[in-house]
Amino acid sequence: MPVMRLTDEERAMLQGAQGEGIRKAMEIVVALGTIYGAQDLAPVSHVQVSGVSYKNLGDAGLEFLREWAAQGARVRVPTTLNPAGMDLRHWQELGFSPDFAAQQQAVLDAFTTMGIETTCTCTPYLVGYAPRLGDHIAWGESSAIAYANSVLGARTNREGGPGALAAAIVGRTARYGLHLDENRVPTHVVSVRCPVREASDWGALGYVVGKRVANGVPYLLGLDPAACNVVSLKALGAAMAASGAVALYHIKGVTPEASNCKLHAERATRGLHEFVVESLDEGYAALNKAGTDSIDLVWIGCPHASLDEIELIAEKLDGRRVRAALWITAAHQVRDEAEAHGLLARIEASGGRIVSDTCLVVAPVEALGFTSMATNSGKGAFYGPSLARVATHFGSLEQCLEAAVRGEWQ
Ligand code: F3S
Repeated sequence: MPVMRLTDEERAMLQGAQGEGIRKAMEIVVALGTIYGAQDLAPVSHVQVSGVSYKNLGDAGLEFLREWAAQGARVRVPTTLNPAGMDLRHWQELGFSPDFAAQQQAVLDAFTTMGIETTCTCTPYLVGYAPRLGDHIAWGESSAIAYANSVLGARTNREGGPGALAAAIVGRTARYGLHLDENRVPTHVVSVRCPVREASDWGALGYVVGKRVANGVPYLLGLDPAACNVVSLKALGAAMAASGAVALYHIKGVTPEASNCKLHAERATRGLHEFVVESLDEGYAALNKAGTDSIDLVWIGCPHASLDEIELIAEKLDGRRVRAALWITAAHQVRDEAEAHGLLARIEASGGRIVSDTCLVVAPVEALGFTSMATNSGKGAFYGPSLARVATHFGSLEQCLEAAVRGEWQ
């Protein structure tokens, strides 16, 4: 097996000269690099750590983090966290149990000891942590990875929790996969020939493309650049990542590396697959898995909602009271902005909630008593039945808000 080139400092870290916590982190980074054939390490400018919810970590995960922190592991680059298992400030009102809250807080304390900011959002790029074009980063969270690689042009592989944390502790990641130019070229050319208008359309499109592409890099043609914005692109990438583990996509005339794609597509003599998407029906049908029309929860904000989305929801609700629980998940900074703009008060006057720091997939939803859900998120609908164990309807924002008001899907 080829040996990676390490600098003197990196070798010293690996040999434990900077302590056990750093040795362990370097061992993980080097092991990943060796498995994937990296020749050296790349410095990272930012790390996003996933695997934060106590629901997923359990006691074993908590102990692992505590031990690493006690061994002196500290991050050396700005590092943020994915959603936790509860709203850190409002967990009691939302019905989370004190036992769960105590364990979740212990997880966050371990991360804090390591120097990590408890942002607890899957949209760090909405709250001041947007990497720049060409930056090497190490991100967990599939939707954020797709956004960072595709829309921002930063470079990250799909990091698991320990891999990302290790990269933060040593400030480096192994240079393989999407850190290399040759792996960022398209594998598929996708011509979209149907209207793609609102977030759920982008989610349905993402589902369809992800299924066909599976681990590839799609180059999408035919999309209206004017319709491509933060909300649509985060919905698209999240759904593609869910259905097909897509970590990078390009859109003609929109994403920063798309201009290289045409040339590559012309030069590729084989191995570049092409297909056409004529309709989003397949995506809507596959993501609608509910067996009941009664709805007890409507979930908007997967990936976490932007201020614009919250404003649109307040406008569409227009003061109407909801019968079902309405949860809009968002970063706590976005919730605070919504409060400052009077949007939180409007949502709450309708009976809805802006829930921070968590999401339905990583929260202990079963314990909160929800059994049927409606969402406009392709990723949320993809994982709702399996991970949140709720019957799931998938549709437009308008349909979801109507369902919230009526308590049933129409
Ligand atoms: Fe974010 Fe949770 Fe969706 S982490 S992308 S809101 S499943």
